[in-house]
Amino acid sequence: MKITVIGAGNVGATTALMLAQQQLAKEVVVVDILEGIPEGKSLDMLQSGPVHGSDTFVRGTTDYNETANSDIIVMTAGLARKPGMSRDDLLAANTKIVKDAIGSASAKSPNAIIVVVSNPLDVMTYVALKVSKFPHKRVFGMAGILDTARLRAFIAMELNVSVRDISAMVLGGHGDTMVPLPRLTTVGGIPIGNLMPQERVDAIMQRTRGGGAEIVKFLKTGSAYYAPAAAAAEMVDSIVKDRKRILPCCAYLTGEYGEKDIYMGVPVVLGRGGAERILEMPLNDEEKALFKKSIDHVRGTIAKANI
Ligand code: NAI
Ligand code: 2OP
Repeated sequence: MKITVIGAGNVGATTALMLAQQQLAKEVVVVDILEGIPEGKSLDMLQSGPVHGSDTFVRGTTDYNETANSDIIVMTAGLARKPGMSRDDLLAANTKIVKDAIGSASAKSPNAIIVVVSNPLDVMTYVALKVSKFPHKRVFGMAGILDTARLRAFIAMELNVSVRDISAMVLGGHGDTMVPLPRLTTVGGIPIGNLMPQERVDAIMQRTRGGGAEIVKFLKTGSAYYAPAAAAAEMVDSIVKDRKRILPCCAYLTGEYGEKDIYMGVPVVLGRGGAERILEMPLNDEEKALFKKSIDHVRGTIAKANI
């Protein structure tokens, strides 16, 4: 297994380190446009191998030839938000970056699976599909695991219980229109509405929607990366080990949930074939309306992108 991580910034470097620590590949190649940064960070990661017992070979480069024949490409290159910016404010700059980087990487690794992280996520994943021309099951994005992880962390703090026993579901685009589903969020199998007052449920859902912005406000010069990297690594783990985990991912809809030709956060079976299946479930009227609003927002942003 050879994995390329595009982008040696906060998310890319942290993801590469996690992939190496979890020994998910024999080789991890980190590629960036900034000469010296991917090489230096990768050498540092490689030298952490003996300490945590990993034989994964980590290598940094600015040359896409070194990424050739990768099995998985994790796309993290792109600008990150600053305070006051929405993910959509990154549209023009990141569309260009995704076109360039995915164009180069997909040509060298025509059989790879692409996991997109760059924002605005749902649109950048669409750009990656169009540029790579790969089958849609091999191109999908990371967001739902991060959003549900935030939701689970907030519930665990609220109820003083283990995150392990919390199961959560967030559908829709990765942005202000995301759709956390309290109805399907349970603690030890018990719906959270039975364990806390409705106003606390609402406050936690709202904090989840603003989870990324809350961190940007603290950091001021960038956005979250530990949880995003952990989420990307969890997706890679399910693919590499063909676990068939059911994870919320940004997947291409071909009629599921009544929509076509768009990427949206939905429950996906992730395995060696990529986004092997999308699981559909009945939504109530309120959830359908929120999902549709999210679809409309992402379609609008796709229309503004120069794809
Ligand atoms: P960063 O600024 O730390 O790193 C970005 C890296 O991309 C830099 O090293 C830069 O040199 C590199 N880069 C720029 N153009 C490139 C190109 N053409 N080819 C290769 N490398 C290039 O940013 P960070 O924090 O790592 O975030 C990266 C992206 O991930 C942002 O767009 C951010 O919004 C997004 N993100 C998405 C999340 C999600 O849930 N989907 C979560 C966290 C971040
Ligand atoms: C986040 O949600 C920046 O999209 C990223 O933290």
